[in-house]
Amino acid sequence: MNQKPAHVVAIYPGSFDPITFGHLDLIERGSKLVERLIVAVLQNSEKQPLFSVQERMEMLCEVVAPYRNVEVDSFQGLLVDYSRQRNANLIIRGIRAISDYEFELQMALMNRRLRPELETAFLMASEAHSFVSSRLVKDLFRLGGDISGFVPPNVERRLKERIELKET
Ligand code: PNS
Repeated sequence: MNQKPAHVVAIYPGSFDPITFGHLDLIERGSKLVERLIVAVLQNSEKQPLFSVQERMEMLCEVVAPYRNVEVDSFQGLLVDYSRQRNANLIIRGIRAISDYEFELQMALMNRRLRPELETAFLMASEAHSFVSSRLVKDLFRLGGDISGFVPPNVERRLKERIELKET
């Protein structure tokens, strides 16, 4: 029988534009399963993010500060290449609803083809967060809705600054 790996270094990749309580829940639960968890922000020039990579990393750093085995980083290019650079052997992703499944399956299978020793683990979003997404939070906020139940206070503050600035 194979031996259990001495330690698991996992990457939780994403856009995090911005981080929500759904992401944070996954970080908290994921951090208990592995020795080290790297939350990695994709530097993606194709998307038009509301926050820069630097800003997204700052917000993440503020909220993950209590978790001693969690670090924040950014990457560009293929996730498999980044995972090699960081000696990571696991990808963690969240699944909220069945609609997430198809894309996540494709990505996991592609990543496995590219680097078979890299495993992907899916965590089910908690019921309380299963409908929350960064996009929905931004829409809600733009339309004057209360987002305090969906994002940490530092993110709400930054959203306020960013959106007020854009609309003046
Ligand atoms: O939060 P998101 O936008 O759903 O995260 C998507 C992410 C960053 C996990 C995915 O786009 C990604 O890994 N991009 C890097 C390029 C890559 O390796 N793609 C998968 C194989 S083609």
